[in-house]
Amino acid sequence: MNFVKEIETALKNASIKAGYDENLSVSFSNMGGCDFQCNGCFALSKKYGKNPFDIASEIVGNIEENKLFKFEVSRPAFINIKVTDEGFKSVANFMLSDQMGGLEKNEISQKVLLDYGGANVAKALHIGHLRPAIIGESLKRLYRLLGDEVISDVHLGDWGLQMGLTELQLFEEGKLDSYFGRSQQRYDITIDDLNEAYPTANKRKVNEEDFKKKAEEWTLKIQHKEEPYYEIFKVIRELSVKEISANYLKLGASFELWKGESDAHDFCDEAVKVIKEKGLARESEGALIVDVANEGENIPAGQNEDGTVRYNNPMPPCLIQKTNGAYLYATTDIATILMRNKEYKLDRIEYVTDGRQKMHFNQVFRVCKKSGISPEGQELVHIVNGTMNGSDGKPFKTRSGDTVKLEDIIGMLTGKAKEKLLSNGASSDDETALMIGVGAMKFGDLSNTVSKDYVFDIDKFMAFEGKTGPYLQYMVVRINSILEKLNGKEGGEIFISCDEEREIISKILKLNSSYQICYRDRSLNALCTGLYDLASAFATFYNNHNIINESDENRQKSFISLITLVRKKMLQALDVLAIKVPKKM
Ligand code: ARG
Repeated sequence: MNFVKEIETALKNASIKAGYDENLSVSFSNMGGCDFQCNGCFALSKKYGKNPFDIASEIVGNIEENKLFKFEVSRPAFINIKVTDEGFKSVANFMLSDQMGGLEKNEISQKVLLDYGGANVAKALHIGHLRPAIIGESLKRLYRLLGDEVISDVHLGDWGLQMGLTELQLFEEGKLDSYFGRSQQRYDITIDDLNEAYPTANKRKVNEEDFKKKAEEWTLKIQHKEEPYYEIFKVIRELSVKEISANYLKLGASFELWKGESDAHDFCDEAVKVIKEKGLARESEGALIVDVANEGENIPAGQNEDGTVRYNNPMPPCLIQKTNGAYLYATTDIATILMRNKEYKLDRIEYVTDGRQKMHFNQVFRVCKKSGISPEGQELVHIVNGTMNGSDGKPFKTRSGDTVKLEDIIGMLTGKAKEKLLSNGASSDDETALMIGVGAMKFGDLSNTVSKDYVFDIDKFMAFEGKTGPYLQYMVVRINSILEKLNGKEGGEIFISCDEEREIISKILKLNSSYQICYRDRSLNALCTGLYDLASAFATFYNNHNIINESDENRQKSFISLITLVRKKMLQALDVLAIKVPKKM
């Protein structure tokens, strides 16, 4: 039962009867007390050389008797559609019984690989990984709900200099002695060792030229799978993955594939071979590059101050192999696409990262398309997330100006949630605090358009009133508690007895329609708005009616079913946002 489609069919039939045979599309409306609206008659006016109001009137005049909707023409030439009480009633009961709650899957199911991790082994997850994790996880759930088959891959950064740096540092600390036959006793490396080793090594590399060179040699040895370097690499990777996955889990994000740059490495030779065979690679100062600029891009336009060429619409060539034979970040991502396409038949591969990687993915995608590494018809998409800023409007940093660790953000959120719960006199166990803290963060994030920057305002996000995560969680908790107090009393058929009910059902219809908008825009903000509007409509209903003490039994049964439907729709949407609801708050 899809109201938009039903109305469109009714309009189509009427237009045929009126002699037009036109498809007229319908959208939600809050104008003039109607529920849906059709603006299509304006366009027909030109085509038929008639006054649009007359066309609208003719069409409406030919609408067949309909119990669910009332059609009206409104000047200048809108067709307004109001859902009748009978219409609200039947759709509400349908959504209550329908497994998807009235939501329809896409006509075509696609196979999608979603890459939204990007955590780096041996380095702590940081704030830059936060938005991709939140957004990617929700897109995955949205795509799945609408029928796509989605595989998520964390795509670990596990193959760079940080590996050599970390190993060398641990070695110098004597923690790898057993691997090099210097001790009989194996020292078990801990996550704390790792968390200390990398930052220390990273600082050392700046001032100690020797240390840096050595770390580069170690990195190469790891990459050539030389022992014991490679074995140690595997130990570090495993340890790191445990910590990384625990942190992602706190955010509600999980991945089917825990592959990384190291896995792609095995496909770099092959990727470069394919590119060469297609005649796409050329040598430049010893390195191997691929020209990817299209017409109108990379147009030389004079000189920069430092004497280099300045380009209009720059699209530099993609560097795929260095003079010393080493592969680069771009090569890894190209090889990853090759690897994925060997294993799966994918309609789309999508990435979520911030804007700093725009050029990178643009280049990678073009190389893959030109070389056929990505087959024709496969969509490669870079979903660019805006940055999370502090109150100063600049990317969120610690007080001392360092990048913030993800763990610290989660700690902050949980702490704040505990404070709030305590001041409300509710229990503030760790699990509840985590659900509320992280829920607040996620909703604050996802209610913004993915591509926009936003300000991280913990007080605003954490408010129990207004368009926030905790408000939504609270509304579900409230419904749960009403139903609990009703002690298992069963609901009955939903019927319409007041405006607040119409409002709730209308908001559910709108919420349902927002899923397609989110799918199209690859952004969850419309769903967040739909969810909040539904919660507000429920709050109004709840304030005006005493569900528990309603004396008319049929009406009470209808109320019970209606709030059960509200809860079902809210939980469905919250699940897409990967926001959990606590038992009490
Ligand atoms: N590891 C990278 C970083 O931390 C992000 C990886 C993004 N994903 C990709 N397929 N390149 O910056």
